[in-house]
Amino acid sequence: MAKAFLVALVSLAIYISSYFNFAYTTGAAAPGAAESNKFKVVGHVYCNTCRVEFETKISQPISGAVVKLECRNRTDGAVTFKSPEITTTKSGDYSIDVEGDYEDSDCDVTLVRSSRPDCSDLTEEWRKARVVLTTLDGVSGDTRFANSLGFKKKEALPECKKVLTDLGYYELQDELGHEVVP
Ligand SMILES: *[C@@H]1O[C@H](CO)[C@@H](O)[C@H](O)[C@H]1NC(C)=O
Repeated sequence: MAKAFLVALVSLAIYISSYFNFAYTTGAAAPGAAESNKFKVVGHVYCNTCRVEFETKISQPISGAVVKLECRNRTDGAVTFKSPEITTTKSGDYSIDVEGDYEDSDCDVTLVRSSRPDCSDLTEEWRKARVVLTTLDGVSGDTRFANSLGFKKKEALPECKKVLTDLGYYELQDELGHEVVP
C-alpha cells in the first residue's frame, strides 16, 4: 500500500517536472517572448592602489567614475545594445538597466573614465567585464553581477609591499615595478 503510494507520487513528480520543462522550453523559444526581459547589471569600480590587476584590501572605491555597457552581435560585431554613460555612486557602485535578450551578443561593461586624476591608468585587458544578458542559458534572476573594474593609481601606496607579500605575490616584484618595492 505504502509502496504503491510512493510509486504514484514519484510518477506524479516526474510528470510535473517534465511538464514544466516542456513549458519552459517552448515559452523561451516563442517569438517575441525574449524581448520583454529586463536586466539590472550591477558592479563596482575601484582604485587599484597597488597597481596590480586584482582588488586588494587597500583598494578604494571610486565615486563619479564613468562606465558604459555595450553588446555586440557575436557573428558580425554590430552593436546590439548601448547604454548611456553611467556614473558610479559614492561607494563606487553602478547599476545599468538593460531591456531585451542578448543571447547572440557579447556584452561588456567598459570603464570610460575615472574621476580621480591620480588614479586613472587603464589596462586594456582589465578594462572590461563580460556579463551574460539572456535567460536562455539557464541563469535566472534579472540582476547580473559584473566583475569589479579598476583603475590603477599612478604611484602605488607604501603599504602595498606588505599587502602583496601577505597575499604571496611578493615574487612578482619585478613585474609590479619599482614603486611596489621601495
Ligand atoms: C547577428 O549577425 C548575423 C550575421 O550578420 C545575423 O544573421 C543575425 O541576425 C544578427 N543577430 C542579431 C541579434 O542582430
